[in-house]
This record gives sequence, C-alpha cells and structure tokens, in this order.
Amino acid sequence: MNIKSKTLFIFLFLFLTLTYGCSKNNDTAIPASRFTNLYENTFKPNCIRCHVPGQDPYDNLGVKLDFSTKEKAHSTLTTLKCAGQSSTFCADIPYVTARDLNQSYLVAILNRTYNNITNYAGKVNCVPYNIHIIDQHLTTEEQNSIIAWINEGAAI
Ligand code: HEC
Repeated sequence: MNIKSKTLFIFLFLFLTLTYGCSKNNDTAIPASRFTNLYENTFKPNCIRCHVPGQDPYDNLGVKLDFSTKEKAHSTLTTLKCAGQSSTFCADIPYVTARDLNQSYLVAILNRTYNNITNYAGKVNCVPYNIHIIDQHLTTEEQNSIIAWINEGAAI
C-alpha cells in the first residue's frame, strides 16, 4: 500500500465508524407531545363525530371547532372563542388561554369544578354549557391531561 491509499483507507474506516456510531445513537424515538396524545386518545375518538365541518355544531350552531386533524384541532382550540347558541352569556371566552384555566372555556365545559363557576371568566351570568359533563364524561386522567396541557403553555 502506498501512502495515498493508506490515507484513503484510514478516512474510509473513520467515516464508516462515525456514521455507524451516529446512526445507532439516533435510534431513540422522540416521545409524542402531550397534545398529540390528547388528540389521539381523547379528542379524535370522542369529538370528531360532531365537531367537524358538515356537522350541526359547525354548520348551523356557530361552533367552528374542527377536530378533523391534529393541526386543525390545535389551531381552532387555541385561536377561536365561545360562540355556541347554548352559551349565550359566555360568548367570546377563548376556548383555550395558555396557562389560564379561568379563561379556557374548553375546561369549563369538560370539568365539573370549572363548570360550576358562576360568572366564569368574569362574564356576568355565564353558566358554562353543561351537557358535555354528562355526555362526554371524560376520565379524571383525561381532564387532568387537558389541564396540564393548558398549564404547560398549550403547545402542539
Ligand atoms: C354528539 C355530538 C357532540 C359530541 C360527540 C361532542 N360535542 Fe361538543 N357540542 C355539541 C353541541 C350540539 C354543542 C352546543 C352547540 C351550541 O351551543 O349550540 C357543543 C358545544 C361544545 C363546546 C362549546 C362551544 C361554544 O362555542 O359554545 C365545546 C368547547 C365543545 N362542544 C367541545 C367538545 C369536545 C372537546 C368534545 C369531545 C370531548 C365534544 N365537544 C363532543 C355536540 C357534540
């Protein structure tokens, strides 16, 4: 072997060791975000039936929540405000305000403690829509996960 091919050989050896070593370290999968888990385990199975374009709440009742994809669920929840006909005195309360459970209508309609607050979000006479406390009855774990997601900043 001459010098040139020896150097080439060493470079090739180093390149292969490094790439193999690096690819091995990258095997660990990135854990799913809290919102991804919430969407897959709670919103998708429970809410998609009614809260999508083409269904009554979206088309006729003024509720523009859209759970058809994770991205749409996140953007409608974090940018839109209460507008449903059954929530007259609660109009304009954000569905989700990062780090503020007293300004997050989503929590008020799913969690009994927040549902019972009169004048929720400082809105006179607002009594949050209570049907979902009964017909959705999310588990304590699911409710706590929604609360934690909001307290952590409501990221996607
Ligand atoms: C069987 C259909 C149905 C399902 C399933 C359902 N909803 Fe609803 N939801 C409604 C209806 C109807 C209203 C009342 C709309 C109105 O005020 O006229 C409503 C109201 C709401 C409101 C208040 C909206 C507003 O602007 O006033 C939120 C928030 C909401 N639902 C979230 C959810 C979430 C989250 C889930 C899943 C855990 C869910 N809903 C499951 C039908 C449904």
